[in-house]
Amino acid sequence: MSKDFLQFMRDRVSNNQLAEPAPTHSEWREILDAASRAADHGNLKPWRFKVYEGDARSQVGEVYWQHAKSEVEQLSDDKADVFIKKAYRAPAILLVYADLIEHPKVPEMEQLMAVAASAQQALLGLNALGYAGIWRTGPAVFTDAAKNQLGLTENQQVVGLIYVGTASAEVTPVENTGIDERLTFVS
Ligand SMILES: Cc1cc2nc3c(=O)[nH]c(=O)nc-3n(C[C@H](O)[C@H](O)[C@H](O)COP(=O)(O)O)c2cc1C
Repeated sequence: MSKDFLQFMRDRVSNNQLAEPAPTHSEWREILDAASRAADHGNLKPWRFKVYEGDARSQVGEVYWQHAKSEVEQLSDDKADVFIKKAYRAPAILLVYADLIEHPKVPEMEQLMAVAASAQQALLGLNALGYAGIWRTGPAVFTDAAKNQLGLTENQQVVGLIYVGTASAEVTPVENTGIDERLTFVS
């Protein structure tokens, strides 16, 4: 089992070719329950999850559109669809965000890292149930406007959008992770 698990982690790949079906609600619960065992200083459980499905994906698309409008002067309204459709690249989108608190021993940075760890666990959990996904963020989601549109409060911070579905094209595992150039034993 442990070797198989290592191989499973080793072979994880993102996939942006995502079709129906996405996880059912009970599968989402299972995946995110497992993701909730990310390392977590102070047991704060700072992760929060929202799953956008069906037409609710337009709420994410609206974030892209509003951001584009704020960046490009005179962007005409007939371009809205182009941006909103970006959120339809997968049957579901998992928003992973942090609920940050002031804590005497756990700085915000550590809380954010715990949430990022939960996002990675979610990617693995999705793969474990036969689904595929890709973590996307991009500048559009890190603005205060995006936070408002996604219903986040001031103390909350987007960590990632994970596009989720069933792989419609195969991706091959990475041959060389580059570990040998990145590992040092100190003894
Ligand atoms: C924090 C974070 C943000 C990312 N944002 C994007 C993004 O906006 N667009 C994108 O194409 N890939 C993004 N990626 C990269 C993909 O999720 C993915 O890791 C990359 O395509 C490499 O594929 P792999 O995970 O199979 O190695 C992001 C990854 C992380 C960890």
